[in-house]
Amino acid sequence: MKSVAVIGAGCCGLTAIKCCLDEGLEPVCFERGNYISGLWHYTEDVEEGQACVMKSTVINTSKEMMCYSDFPIPADFPIYMHNQQVDRYFHMYADKFGLRKYINFNTEVLSVKPTKTFNSDGQWEIAINTSDKEETRVFDAVLICTGHHAEKNLPNFPGLNKFKGNVKHTHDYKDYHGYEDKNVLIIGIGNSGGDVATELSRITSQVYLSTRSGSWILNRVAEKGLPWDMVQSTRFNTKLLTTFPNMITSRTEKKLDKKIDHEKYCLKPKHHLFSAHPTLNDELPNRIISGGVIVKANVAEFTETGAIFEDGTTIDNLDAVILATGYSFGFPFIDKSVIEVKANKVDLYKYMFPPDLQKHTMAIIGCFQPLGAIMPLSEMQCRLATRVFKGLKTLPESSKMWKDIKSKHAAMSMRYKQSLRHTIQVDYVPYMDELAEMVGCKPKIGKLVLTDPKLAMEIFFGPCTPCQYRLMGPGPWKGARNAIMTQWERVYKPLQTRPCAKTERKSSGAIYMLIVAVIAVLLYFIL
Ligand SMILES: Cc1cc2nc3c(=O)[nH]c(=O)nc-3n(C[C@H](O)[C@H](O)[C@H](O)COP(=O)(O)OP(=O)(O)OC[C@H]3O[C@@H](n4cnc5c(N)ncnc54)[C@H](O)[C@@H]3O)c2cc1C
Ligand SMILES: *[C@@H]1O[C@H](CO)[C@@H](O)[C@H](O)[C@H]1NC(C)=O
Ligand SMILES: *[C@@H]1O[C@H](CO)[C@@H](O)[C@H](O)[C@H]1NC(C)=O
Repeated sequence: MKSVAVIGAGCCGLTAIKCCLDEGLEPVCFERGNYISGLWHYTEDVEEGQACVMKSTVINTSKEMMCYSDFPIPADFPIYMHNQQVDRYFHMYADKFGLRKYINFNTEVLSVKPTKTFNSDGQWEIAINTSDKEETRVFDAVLICTGHHAEKNLPNFPGLNKFKGNVKHTHDYKDYHGYEDKNVLIIGIGNSGGDVATELSRITSQVYLSTRSGSWILNRVAEKGLPWDMVQSTRFNTKLLTTFPNMITSRTEKKLDKKIDHEKYCLKPKHHLFSAHPTLNDELPNRIISGGVIVKANVAEFTETGAIFEDGTTIDNLDAVILATGYSFGFPFIDKSVIEVKANKVDLYKYMFPPDLQKHTMAIIGCFQPLGAIMPLSEMQCRLATRVFKGLKTLPESSKMWKDIKSKHAAMSMRYKQSLRHTIQVDYVPYMDELAEMVGCKPKIGKLVLTDPKLAMEIFFGPCTPCQYRLMGPGPWKGARNAIMTQWERVYKPLQTRPCAKTERKSSGAIYMLIVAVIAVLLYFIL
């Protein structure tokens, strides 16, 4: 038995505990708060250094794409859940797999250091603080699950200290109270900036939304009212995008412009769609067209009562400023010799493993930014890490890992706009597959085409849902196939709230089977 310290009981820490149990390891989780779910546990009070959703936050990834791979979200939950339901799902997960008894609440980890004998036994010395005492304990391995949204990024705008109104970072914004009938300037058009702007625009006198570089706006609700991520995140689309990147990018941009002309709305960014993190917001165009939100350029300077923008325009009667300027991350409690983060840059193999350690008994979980859900990716990271800890999987030698890290950094700076936001960017399907290949649980579609063509079709053309990674390899789940074949039922279930006249559709079963057969044969030769 190997003891594993899990630091943090957010959605990453929970799955870390579960994956340790699955591999027969002994997890001990330390959580400084008195609750699970991390930032999805809403608190009325602002806690410094502790990330938290706003009262109205609705998750931006659909329930089928964000679930843990062996625990689909109940059919009657909405497709995009309010933060209270997200929190409830994490509680259900903890109960289902009996995770709670491994968590030590109100226990803060103060430091994580390699022991003196680390190079032979790979053990860690972990100092913890409970309310009544400090102590040091030794563990065989450690999983760091402390999140990356706690430290506010506060850019230094000229004159901001002169400004007499209220100034707040979105980290400290809970709800609209106090902003009624005010003139509010929001800086930054990321997801938080967009959320705060649309919420406030209904009760304030005026909301101004300042953006330096603009952004592409995606909607949760895609064509036919389907969830965008289920439509977008398919293996087929991923293959198309990697084969014809320019064509697909410009086609998708045109599609987005068809919904709202980004240029006319002054939102159009200089960068292309997949070169910066887009903004997911369903209401913004609506609030702009009704005058509640006015889009502005970057702020050049603040005055005592207003702001001057880079295009020379001014606002003179501002009451409040909200900085939606993002976060910086770090691991202040880990020994500097192990990991150092500079300007949101960190060198980790597969975004997880410090490459220079003699023994690979440490992994960082959830320290990446996908265009998609964090939960299933961090679950996959935990499946990999626990297998590495057990010696079932060996990592390549240090020089090979550095080569991989450097090539990833290079690819990132080729593709993305230079920014604090784009240092840990991953693509959902490719990253999931990359890790799954190391674990040995990537679905073999070529094989499935012959044995289970229906499933193979859904896996290739349907959404790349997490249950796909429980079909084969280590840690399979018996319910996986059924969960995949019924995923659309779980999507439609919460919408069926009223008897509704249906148009008769002619069944085209035979034609469908023929198409399936033809595509299956084609696929077999392609893959
Ligand atoms: C406002 C907001 C909205 C978001 N919306 C979405 C979304 O819609 N979809 C999505 O996929 N992602 C979203 N995210 C991203 C979010 O990071 C992930 O969804 C996910 O919650 C991260 O989980 P985590 O477990 O890594 O970190 P957290 O949830 O932050 O949990 C970390 C835990 O570690 C504990 N901890 C930290 N340091 C210590 C220590 N030294 N000792 C002991 N315990 C410690 C903390 O108390 C906390 O409970 C959002 C983030 C923010 C800030
Ligand atoms: C340990 O926790 C106690 C109580 O929460 C606190 O007063 C003290 O400052 C903490 N010690 C350290 C080193 O953080
Ligand atoms: C969802 O919101 C979070 C927090 O603002 C953000 O980090 C993440 O990238 C968003 N996801 C998508 C798919 O836009």
